[in-house]
Amino acid sequence: MKKVNKRKKTVKSKKIIFPKGFFWGCATASYQIEGAWNEDGKGESIWDRFSHTPGKILNNETGDIACDHYHRYEEDVNLMSELGIKAYRFSISWPRVIPEGKGKINYKGLDFYDRLVDKLLEKNIKPFITLYHWDLPQALEDKGGWRTKETSYAFADYTKIVVKNLSDRVTHWITLNEPPCSALLGYKSGYHAPGLKESDKVINQVIHNLLLAHGLGIQNIKEYSKKKCEAGIAHNPSIKVPYKETPDDIEAARKAFWEISDLWDQNAWWLDAIFIGKYPEKMWAERGNNVPEITNKEMKIISTPMDFLGLNIYTANLVKTDKTKGSPGYKIISLPKNWPVQDMVWVIPECIYYCLKYINDRYKIKKFYITENGCVVKDKISLDGKVHDKERIDYLKKHIISAHKAVSEGINLNGYFIWTLIDNFEWAWGTSKRLGLIYVDFPTQKRIIKDSGYWYKKVIQNNGIY
Ligand code: FCB
Repeated sequence: MKKVNKRKKTVKSKKIIFPKGFFWGCATASYQIEGAWNEDGKGESIWDRFSHTPGKILNNETGDIACDHYHRYEEDVNLMSELGIKAYRFSISWPRVIPEGKGKINYKGLDFYDRLVDKLLEKNIKPFITLYHWDLPQALEDKGGWRTKETSYAFADYTKIVVKNLSDRVTHWITLNEPPCSALLGYKSGYHAPGLKESDKVINQVIHNLLLAHGLGIQNIKEYSKKKCEAGIAHNPSIKVPYKETPDDIEAARKAFWEISDLWDQNAWWLDAIFIGKYPEKMWAERGNNVPEITNKEMKIISTPMDFLGLNIYTANLVKTDKTKGSPGYKIISLPKNWPVQDMVWVIPECIYYCLKYINDRYKIKKFYITENGCVVKDKISLDGKVHDKERIDYLKKHIISAHKAVSEGINLNGYFIWTLIDNFEWAWGTSKRLGLIYVDFPTQKRIIKDSGYWYKKVIQNNGIY
């Protein structure tokens, strides 16, 4: 009994300190915050078209105004600076820069990002730019969207333009955000723009074309950057965590992580292509006639070496060993009814540690960033005018501790970005889901730093959790 108490105490008082220079950041995406959907020459994106179609977004909301960040970016950067944020991951709206997706450049659109980057640097905040966070120019969708390789090559040209214009100041680049969501939510379930329900054959092609765009993007970032820079992707694997931390369950979860072969859950398909330049043979064979059209040259492009792997991590499946299927077989388990849930998402903080571990063990990754982590809370302004989001602090704390476990085992994790800076337009959920460190009263656009924002400020000051 005594012993147990003692152990509890030491765990509680243990300081969780991250390596010097660790990037504590936060993330956003253009369509979710900018608004100004048709201002200063911006072209229509698939999200403009989708949200303007009745019945696609909860309560028929749109991102036409969102957080009005296009006009309020200075205020938002000042708030970031007040929180001591070291790095800001934001995305560029492709149709703001190239309204038709290809061809004519809209310099007014580029100017916006120019001003934003300058403002960030003035406040000593490192910009991390995502080139594609789902808002494809509608003009390209009309010509086939991600079903055609032309879009991959258009992405390469767009990347070149942005990099040429901003790389005198920006040194951290992300090609695509969560390509599985672009492919599956956009073209299979239709929950996201462009809202289609395509066949598996088409989806496999969409996946390949996205990967091709990523590879071409990395090549162009490297070729056209004016400064030494880092380039990578923000991927969202389907994470598996051992039910119990026993050697058997750890291996079972690892097996599930790599072997599950379903369009919605196929980590090896995405990551082997990126790191090895091959789709896994067994999975390829299983797909029969549904395999995509590929060339060896394209696979080489897709596996162009990156400087880092960005991971967006929120939750996981728990996996148990299943001896009936051979050793070690696995089975995904349903969680007990009383398992902690944060707005429909299972809270399994170990997802960060195991995701980094399984991927690092397979490919020996040079550098990782957690490019997103965060949770929805039903935030309310209290009588004292503040937002007491205790649940968010609790969620973030547990996940940061899990990230630290990876660091302490020598995994090279260089930064952690909270999703998200500010409550925003959460895709098909509209503004009904709040994930920000800063509360937004949408009718007035008033911003209020939540308790989690002040808590994160301390984490950043301490470079960890005391
Ligand atoms: C991720 C997206 C991001 C946001 C968070 C909650 O899948 O990249 O835009 O919607 O989820």
